[in-house]
Amino acid sequence: MDKIFVPPIKIQGIKTQIVPLIKQNIALDDDFLWVEPFMGSGVVGFNIKPRRALFADNNPHLINFYNALKTEEISSRKVKSFLTEQGNLLSKNGEEHYYLVRERFNKFHEPLDFLFLNRSCFNGLIRFNGRGEFNVPYGHKPQRFSKAYVTKIVNQIRYVEYCLSVFDWQFRCQEFRETLTDLDKSEQIFIYCDPPYIGRHVDYYNSWNDEDERALCSMLKELKKRFMLSTWVENKFRVNPYVENIWAFCRKVTLEHFYHVGAKEINRNSMIEAVLMNYSSEEKDGL
Ligand SMILES: C[S@@+](CC[C@H](N)C(=O)[O-])C[C@H]1O[C@@H](n2cnc3c(N)ncnc32)[C@H](O)[C@@H]1O
Repeated sequence: MDKIFVPPIKIQGIKTQIVPLIKQNIALDDDFLWVEPFMGSGVVGFNIKPRRALFADNNPHLINFYNALKTEEISSRKVKSFLTEQGNLLSKNGEEHYYLVRERFNKFHEPLDFLFLNRSCFNGLIRFNGRGEFNVPYGHKPQRFSKAYVTKIVNQIRYVEYCLSVFDWQFRCQEFRETLTDLDKSEQIFIYCDPPYIGRHVDYYNSWNDEDERALCSMLKELKKRFMLSTWVENKFRVNPYVENIWAFCRKVTLEHFYHVGAKEINRNSMIEAVLMNYSSEEKDGL
């Protein structure tokens, strides 16, 4: 099994653990354009390493970050000196420095400040309030940016820099409807969708409702391109009604995933997650 590459910006719902399942089930060859309308951290596409890709998301800060790497406005070298310098200020001034950077980010939206906040905020979450401002509190780790930690992040950036130098990857800030409407239908395309789950974690860039789920389903059906959708099937309390309803035409591969709510073992809950596909396991050519 290949080592899984973990991207520099982490988000809630990151699919690192599901990458092997996705890899085993995609039907993709070299000529395909990989389309990811909900890129989030990018962990899925970054591990698939398609030759050509369109990564999109409605969160401008994620997209700006990768476009800044593409245009070389930021680089692994700049990340190293920035995190070292800001990390020193964090260890000296703690909380005060964290909130200074948060305020600066909410004014100027600089990609390096975004990276700093993502790595020093509480639980490494990214969350935005109703005015679109980053509002995660301080993670209370003043020594966060140790030399080893900065090196780890710099290596993650280097991996993306390498991919950008050899592959044709585009990053666009747009709503999924726009991403799917703008596709060139004559192309060979594989679409991987990982929308927010209905009823879970809502913030400025992560609201999702019945209308969105149905619109996504009918657009994917109409496109008649090969697609894969990540979703949840059931947990201890609930079953996802959409899986056996609007997505019933798809093939389903499931995976049991464990997560903790708090620190106690008794709070270890399981969730059945799935990838849904509109192609058979043997299928290699067009639909
Ligand atoms: C579950 S996350 C994707 C996680 C990603 N697969 C990963 O492993 O990091 C969903 C993403 O969809 C984006 N999003 C939410 N609503 C959207 C919409 N209507 N159009 C496009 N992107 C949207 C969010 O900003 C978020 O990054």
